[in-house]
Amino acid sequence: MINVKGLTKEYKTGKEVVPVLKGVNLTVEEGEFVCIIGPSGSGKTTLLHLLGGLDTPTSGEIQLNGSGITSKSEKERTILRRKEIGLIFQNYQLLPTLTVYENIVFPVHADGKKVSAETVQELLSAVDLVGFEKRFPNELSGGQQQRVAIARSLIHKPSILLADEPTGNLDRQRSSDILDLLSNFHRERNQTIVMVSHDMFAAGYADRIVLFKDGVIEAQVKREEDDYAKFLTRFMA
Ligand SMILES: Nc1ncnc2c1ncn2[C@@H]1O[C@H](COP(=O)(O)OP(=O)(O)O)[C@@H](O)[C@H]1O
Ligand SMILES: [Mg+2]
Repeated sequence: MINVKGLTKEYKTGKEVVPVLKGVNLTVEEGEFVCIIGPSGSGKTTLLHLLGGLDTPTSGEIQLNGSGITSKSEKERTILRRKEIGLIFQNYQLLPTLTVYENIVFPVHADGKKVSAETVQELLSAVDLVGFEKRFPNELSGGQQQRVAIARSLIHKPSILLADEPTGNLDRQRSSDILDLLSNFHRERNQTIVMVSHDMFAAGYADRIVLFKDGVIEAQVKREEDDYAKFLTRFMA
């Protein structure tokens, strides 16, 4: 479970202080699939990176599976990330000197573990990249790189998946393939997913949609609620 309380984040650029998150409160239940939507620049990526322990907040608390991550050292957060968290970065962040195969198995090896070739093949096949194992990131299209990043985020079977616009560079068919894949992991492994997207089609896969605006949560709706359809239409425009 993810529990966020009074989260703020300011960036300092030169003498200017830019408040990006202005008091975010959010609870995500274990096994829930939440989609965060909102305008560009509203702080969605910042929030996701804080949830993943990649950065520290200016104030506020984040608890993951019952333990606070805000007070943890960078090393402790790295270890937590390797075990519990899968992250799909908006800009993929593949390691340029590693092949597709090596990029995908990287989180497992970094944790000192091994992974079977069969597991890797299953994931490669799920993201439709069989035959691309030996390529380097600069030999792939944006969409292919995004799919490598997705496979890498899932290889260590994280309990929490944080996905930043995971279908941002994919066409509709590939988007729905990837969203089906994430939904299956969500259902079969009871995987908690927090996904950022500006695509209403993607948002439709989630159990709950959270509208983020100007550094705070402005509205949210669960799939089973009466005004779900109204909410979707209102923000589709
Ligand atoms: N490292 C940083 N230093 C300074 N400003 C940043 C940094 N990262 C993000 N910002 C600013 O924070 C705001 C929110 O960014 P971001 O979280 O990427 O929004 P979103 O993902 O919703 O588009 C933007 O105005 C952006 O310019
Ligand atoms: Mg972003």
